[in-house]
Amino acid sequence: MGYKRVVISEFGGPEVLKMIEETTLPEPKPGEVRVKVLVAGAAFTDVMIRKGKYPDVKEKPPFSPGYDMVGVVDKLGEGVTHFKLGQQVADLTVIGSYSEFLCLPESRLTHIPEGVDPAEAVSLVLSYVTAYQMLHRVAKVKRGQRILIHGAGGAVGTAMLQLGKLLDLEMYGTASKTKHELVKQLGATPIDYKGENFVERIRSLTGDGVDAAFDPIGGDNFKRSFSALRRGGKLVAYGFYDAVLGKGGSIPLDFMRLQLWNFWPNGRSTAFYSIGPLRQKQPSWFSEDLTILFDLLAQNKIKPIIATRMPLAEAARAHELIEQAEVQGKIVLTVAATPA
Ligand SMILES: NC(=O)c1ccc[n+]([C@@H]2O[C@H](COP(=O)([O-])OP(=O)(O)OC[C@H]3O[C@@H](n4cnc5c(N)ncnc54)[C@H](OP(=O)(O)O)[C@@H]3O)[C@@H](O)[C@H]2O)c1
Repeated sequence: MGYKRVVISEFGGPEVLKMIEETTLPEPKPGEVRVKVLVAGAAFTDVMIRKGKYPDVKEKPPFSPGYDMVGVVDKLGEGVTHFKLGQQVADLTVIGSYSEFLCLPESRLTHIPEGVDPAEAVSLVLSYVTAYQMLHRVAKVKRGQRILIHGAGGAVGTAMLQLGKLLDLEMYGTASKTKHELVKQLGATPIDYKGENFVERIRSLTGDGVDAAFDPIGGDNFKRSFSALRRGGKLVAYGFYDAVLGKGGSIPLDFMRLQLWNFWPNGRSTAFYSIGPLRQKQPSWFSEDLTILFDLLAQNKIKPIIATRMPLAEAARAHELIEQAEVQGKIVLTVAATPA
């Protein structure tokens, strides 16, 4: 039996994403599980990987992208003990999930609760774990504190707003005007970063600034976010959106500046968050945090904003929409029909 997968044929624009057919299914090695993928997330991080601008991925094309997935256990390799055929599982694959089948070590997989929508479940793996860990593991925000979220209408931004609301945070979110209604509905004060100076707006709205700012934009934005902090506040940087799109900033220089600002005697601090390296360092945190998020989903305490569900064959179109910032929340790629 064969199967289909999308590959990055060479680093470049969305057109380099090609669907190919394999003639035989991958076989799980000892300790591995073969997963039939139901859904995969499409995110800005996949765009970075497709462009060859993601430092943690060293693979050379052709390879399949796909940072996260939810699927069904389809075959067990020798010695697998924690999973049964037909169970639904999730993983942060980093690459590989734009595929109908893939094999993964059982140690990487997390069970998903019965009855949750696989598309909502997959939205948690990259975007909500990122938001959750930045809030709870890095910034360690306390109930009622004040935060600034950039890219508030995107996948991580909307996740952060929902998680922030559970902590009664006072939230400010930068977004272009088309996303302001969504940002407001999710409980934050929207700031139009294209039409106003967000530092001045934060000062006028809050007086002394925010307790934490979450910034995936990079370049000059990091500096401005740092100056929007009150004394004791923390800037959590987690991306280089502008540099990836050629709009300014330099990944190594931005990164260095963040380290330097930690030595300024001004009572503020910085941290850089990266989901992959943190999972390597603290593997139990990843599965604990994802399990907490699945529970919140099962209890309807969070509800991922899914802009659209598209078939895997339309992965290139999904990437175009993400790069053009036309997505409110998350795009989910449907790979196989959900079992009844
Ligand atoms: N470090 C990690 O572990 C980690 C994990 C996940 C994601 N990330 C990074 O986080 C970023 C966001 O990811 P995502 O999946 O949420 O992407 P996304 O869904 O594409 O959202 C990004 C949002 O940023 C907005 N935006 C663009 N320029 C902006 C600016 N100058 N100021 C404020 N908002 C701006 C865009 O919409 P509008 O311009 O229309 O408002 C878009 O909604 C990416 O850079 C990604 O690589 C990092």
